[in-house]
Amino acid sequence: MTSRASASECFVYITLPGQVSAVTAGKFVLATTARGDALGRFIYGRSYLANRDAVEIDPLELKLSTQTYETAQVNGVFGALRDAGPDYWGRRVIEKHTGKTQLGELDYLLESPDDRAGAVGFGLNNVPPAPRRKFNETLDLERLQLLADALIRDDIPNDPDAPQVQDLLLLGTSMGGARPKTVVQDDGELWIAKFNRSDDRWNNTRVEHAMLRLARECGIRTAESRIETIGGRDVLLVTRFDRETATNGYTRARMVSGLTILRSEESATMRTRWSYVILAEELRRIVAEPRKDAQELFRRMCFNALISNIDDHPRNQAVIAKEREWKLSPAYDLTPSPVIAQERRDLAMDCGDLGRYANAKNILSQHARFLLERSEAEKIVNDMQKQVGSTWYETVRSCGVSEKDADAIRAAFLYPGFFL
Ligand SMILES: Nc1ncnc2c1ncn2[C@@H]1O[C@H](COP(=O)(O)OP(=O)(O)OP(=O)(O)O)[C@@H](O)[C@H]1O
Ligand SMILES: [Mg+2]
Repeated sequence: MTSRASASECFVYITLPGQVSAVTAGKFVLATTARGDALGRFIYGRSYLANRDAVEIDPLELKLSTQTYETAQVNGVFGALRDAGPDYWGRRVIEKHTGKTQLGELDYLLESPDDRAGAVGFGLNNVPPAPRRKFNETLDLERLQLLADALIRDDIPNDPDAPQVQDLLLLGTSMGGARPKTVVQDDGELWIAKFNRSDDRWNNTRVEHAMLRLARECGIRTAESRIETIGGRDVLLVTRFDRETATNGYTRARMVSGLTILRSEESATMRTRWSYVILAEELRRIVAEPRKDAQELFRRMCFNALISNIDDHPRNQAVIAKEREWKLSPAYDLTPSPVIAQERRDLAMDCGDLGRYANAKNILSQHARFLLERSEAEKIVNDMQKQVGSTWYETVRSCGVSEKDADAIRAAFLYPGFFL
């Protein structure tokens, strides 16, 4: 258990392109204003700025410069830093492990393991620690899955010395998201391992695996995945696209979420900026190949509408940079949702003139912002609609989704409102 008081500043480290260990990029200070609001400040270190290989942490907000950056958004934590921290699942593990329910934003960053998405890291020393070398192996998954179950059931003692509480350190990951997960090393590569929950309505891991395959069949670039059956239960393994194996460790790609690119938050008032159309515009300013990525985003939006993936929030989109240049990351976290509504289903982000409506006309309405001619956009929608309609069943079944589960998700595909 930690005895540290809530931290208010830390160093930010970064693993530069092609490297396997980090350097110090700058300092982050989290202060409270006289009115009691959180205010974050970030400044790049002078020696970092003098490093010819230095790269920006965030392509829009934290460009390489001597200025002191400030933000009052997201509890004072810059989006690009928060993207490197745990979300609901990782925070839950940390809270249970530290025995504290109310940690400060910075504590979550400092308490979380260094398997975080992207290339940044955090610490209290001005020199970064050696990179993490030891990771869980697929062999450990059975134990980790049982531990995840116990955490979900709230069945872990409130005793910091209990072995289960100690083991949470192994389960814990800084990767975002709400579903139970951990990170494993297999065959010299790093993977996210996503577990099923006992209260899931169908075999989520197989369905997610199948959706990644279906997306690829629709011409979408996705993360690679496979299923491991451990102790009779399925675990989804997704290759990490932000890590690459090198001779002496892992290189790390920078990664920033769509939420950060949109300069938005999860709060209801900030959701007005949750939009594929705005994301396409912002992307075009950042990425090396605007046309390619804008069109890819268009495909993903269309795919989400076709499979009723209404959990397509902006943290389920990201840009990455392996070298200097940014690009849209492979697609991940694709989940069909067979909601009851037949006429109107809404995605999590605006897709056109009619707002979030998962509907072909709406998706087509802003085609130009995705750098597509009307006819090109129509062809994509028609082709994808045919592909999903004719192959979704076969694809899910060939990924081992049971007949019963396939029936349970059937209503997610090509719902009537898409064509209205
Ligand atoms: N293949 C991958 N490589 C690298 N990072 C990834 C990959 N897949 C997901 N991520 C990162 O990990 C986070 C969590 O993954 P994911 O979205 O699959 O989890 P989840 O718990 O299902 O999320 P949600 O809360 O949206 O349901 C993502 O937001 C993204 O930052
Ligand atoms: Mg997610």
